[in-house]
Amino acid sequence: MGTDFHNDDKALLEKVDETLEQRKKNGLEGLSGGLEAVIIAVEPERLLPAAQEFINYTGHDVVDAFEDNAQKTIVLKREGSADILVYTRSGHENPFAASNRGAKTGPYPNTRLETFVFKCPDIETYVAKQTGCGRSFLTQDIQQTDTYSFIQTPPSAYTCNSVGFIQWKNNEGEYRSQHATPFDPGLTKPEASYCSNILELDHAATRVRAEERDAAIIEFMEWTNYHFEFAVYVESLNSITNVSRLSLDDFALVFTSGIRPFVSLEESGPTERFIYNYGPRTHHLAFNTENIEDTVDALAEHGMGYISELIGSREEGLKQIFTKPSPHTLIVNEYIHRYDDFDGFFTKSNVTALTKATEKQ
Ligand SMILES: [Fe+2]
Repeated sequence: MGTDFHNDDKALLEKVDETLEQRKKNGLEGLSGGLEAVIIAVEPERLLPAAQEFINYTGHDVVDAFEDNAQKTIVLKREGSADILVYTRSGHENPFAASNRGAKTGPYPNTRLETFVFKCPDIETYVAKQTGCGRSFLTQDIQQTDTYSFIQTPPSAYTCNSVGFIQWKNNEGEYRSQHATPFDPGLTKPEASYCSNILELDHAATRVRAEERDAAIIEFMEWTNYHFEFAVYVESLNSITNVSRLSLDDFALVFTSGIRPFVSLEESGPTERFIYNYGPRTHHLAFNTENIEDTVDALAEHGMGYISELIGSREEGLKQIFTKPSPHTLIVNEYIHRYDDFDGFFTKSNVTALTKATEKQ
């Protein structure tokens, strides 16, 4: 690709249509559903503090913690939301190791939001059809436990994330199998009521290289039943926000990329710089938030720091704010409130301000 490469949506939209057609033809429509969980890996000494952060700064709370010979996992849930699984590997080979390398990730060789897990009504058929299309998974076989069947893709060459698929057996949402040993993480949620204003996981934003934007979106559409919705270009920051969705009511996956590729730390915008520093990865998790003004203040009183102001207004359709990245997960939280029937993710002025706020990362 020449140095004059730049994104526009023409080629992408053609590929999106082709992919939707292929998906139908291959019988994959309806074989994967909404987001069930995000799986976040952290360094071993950061497992408890990472979970405590989610307890303090989201509506999620710990419902289970368990370990087996491969990993130690803490399960956080909130009604109406996808679950958050925070875990640490016990000395096993890490398929994400190469993906996790960036200029600033030295102390965090194993830290990443690794996997978006989607519900699968018939995992055997799903895997057979994807394999028939020439696609392969991280493991040859579907992992079977007494509570679920699970399989995941290798880390994507474009997002470095994996996509997982889960079919529940008896108890929907039960991640602990009979081979795992429960433990008490000793974590408690603050009494304060502000956490109840923080609702479900609304969207996640993954940052990808400018020249890999189309491939990242198309690949995600091939694995899931998501479709590409729209892209918003911010020329001054060399940034595009690309939204993919299952339906209006579901969790959205946002891909953020440059318009033009990385040139240098001085010349490139915040998106390309973030990738230079951390590699392609999920930049933020956004939570739908009620009483957002008071909640943002209460979070600050409980130690949360922000990299932006609370921006937007009722007239513009939404208000939103970005936190500082977590020292345990490297992930930024976004708190977002939409007014009336607004169904967007930002206003053009917000997206500019928010993207600019991430410059210092
Ligand atoms: Fe966002």
